[in-house]
Formats: sequence, structure tokens, C-alpha cells
Amino acid sequence: MNIPKKIELCNKPTRIEKLEKTSKKYNKNIFLKREDETGTETSGNKIRKLEFCLKEAIEQKATHILTCGGIESNHARSTVAACRKVGLNPIVFLRAGEVPSTSGNHFLDNLFGAEVNYIGIDEFNSGIDDIMKEKVESLAKEGMKGYIIPMGASYGIGNFGYYSVMKEIIEQEKLSNINFDTIVTTIGSGGTYAGLVMANKIHSFNKTIVGIPICDSKEFFEEQVLNILEQSNKYLETPVKYSRSDLKITKDFAGLGYALNTEKELQFIKDFAMTEGVLLDPTYTGKAFRGMTKLFDENFFDNSKNILFIHTGGVYGLFSKQTQIQINRLK
Ligand SMILES: Cc1ncc(COP(=O)(O)O)c(C=O)c1O
Repeated sequence: MNIPKKIELCNKPTRIEKLEKTSKKYNKNIFLKREDETGTETSGNKIRKLEFCLKEAIEQKATHILTCGGIESNHARSTVAACRKVGLNPIVFLRAGEVPSTSGNHFLDNLFGAEVNYIGIDEFNSGIDDIMKEKVESLAKEGMKGYIIPMGASYGIGNFGYYSVMKEIIEQEKLSNINFDTIVTTIGSGGTYAGLVMANKIHSFNKTIVGIPICDSKEFFEEQVLNILEQSNKYLETPVKYSRSDLKITKDFAGLGYALNTEKELQFIKDFAMTEGVLLDPTYTGKAFRGMTKLFDENFFDNSKNILFIHTGGVYGLFSKQTQIQINRLK
């Protein structure tokens, strides 16, 4: 099947490792796909999508890439770093005021010398698309071309990132002789989950693909994922029809809200680091992995034996939580 072209920007295939101690604890075989190891500057899931998005932008002769996200957006940082690698000019619009941040991804956006615009929460939530369009218009007046990547690169072309990762997983299964019956990922804007679902459907891989929301509700994301899957159809020779029965999205584990953490969530990240020697992030993977363990107790995963959790990255986000983690207070 023909899919859109991409540029090679990340380390792949990423490793799959078994979490021996966690597997024993929950009486399941639990594996991690280390998408946090896609690159140093571009660590995490977003570079998989950006390989396709930036190719499209270059084909359209873009000079500037515009994108947006929370103040600690991993997506913004990956985009900025990837732009520097391919010689495009990065412009980011960050939602300011949600959580204090001078470190982590926010610091790196500035280190890479991106044009960083700070937008208040209300203005961002009501008008970020218009704000970015206006910027494209003002660039055009100066003879430059802006290409907009929507939040999280969760849109038609971006979904091909995790479509490709799903195919990579199938190759890794053949080499390792392990069949992952269930694949689990965090849902933040939906494109990672959508890509996995797209490949599962098109190639009849018959896997259970579970998405765990960490901000909005299950119902919100069912609609959002079906919407962005539809957007990918314009790149395919034969459009695919999806329905809610293709999705398995759990209840949300947003807790206090996007990018906010309870002490219990941070304690979970610390316990996990001490047990497995692996860093989860506070906004996405920490909440989703913890959510998955709660769902083990609620029998949600009773039919799953070999579970592959996609570690989508986010490690730089940990640094913005240094004060809250207050290492000495946590056990
Ligand atoms: C580290 C990390 N994990 C997971 C996600 C969620 O992925 P998606 O936005 O494709 O749902 C994101 C971004 O939103 C992220 O930065």
C-alpha cells in the first residue's frame, strides 16, 4: 500500500524491553517500546509524526513551521529541534499560565532559538488556530511561507507516524517470536493512538489497541480520533471506514488536570524509576502507566497476556516538576 513519503529523522527501530518486576507483580507479560529513545533532542513520539509532516512542509516549499502546545509541550520542543535539523525556521505558540515553567522543554525551545510566543490560557483555548493563521498571513506579506502543524501533530499526515510504528512492531514480533496481543498508549491529542488503529485496521493485525486519555474524556477522544482518522483518508488510494468499534479508549486518568500532578502520581513515577530503572514523565506516560495498573485491578485487561506499552517519551517534562517532586519528601 502506498503511504505518504517521509524524511528520516529518528533512531529506529526503537527497542522493546520486558519489565520483569512489573510483569511479576501484575501476573502479565508487560513490555515497553522505547519511543523515548527516538533521539536526544527529538526524544519521544512526536518525531515519528514529524518525519511525515516536515516532508509535506518541505514539498510545499515552507520556510517556517508554526505549531503550538502547553508551556512544557514535548511536541513543540521536538518540532523546534527537528526544524533546526532540516533548516526550517521554528515558531511556537505556548499556552502560558497553566503551570510555572522555566526548565525542561520550555528551556530547550529557547536554547534552539525558536521564536517563542506566549499566549494566555483563554486566548489560546478560544483562538489558537486563528492566531497561527494570522502569523502565516504576515509571513506571506514578507514573501515567506508558513506551514501549520496543529497541536500534537494529530492530523491526517501526522497519523502515518504511528501507522509506521505499528508495522515496525510487527517486524519486531517476527524477530522475537512474541505476539503482543495488546498495545497500550497514552492519548494526549490522539494521533499516536489513531496511527496504531489505522495500521491495525488496514492490515488486519487483529490486535487490541488501548488508548488511555490523560486530559479530556473517553467520549471526547472517540470523536477526535475518528475525526483525524478520516483526515488520513485523503492520502490513501482506498479510503478506510472506521467506527467506534475499532477503538478501545479507557476512562481518563487526567487527575487534577493536564500537566498537573498529585503527590500519588509523582510517587508512582519515583517507585517505577526505583523498580525498573526507567523514567516515566509526569504529564503523559506516568499518568497512563499508572492508569493501566489501576485497570489491571478492575479486570479491564483480563484477556491480555502480552502487553506492549508505548513509552512515548516526555522525560524533559520531569525537570519542570523538580520542586514538586521534592525527592526527600517522597519515599
Ligand atoms: C510524552 C508524550 N506522550 C504521549 C503524548 C500523546 O500523544 P498524542 O498527542 O499523539 O495523543 C504526548 C503528546 O501529546 C507526549 O508528549
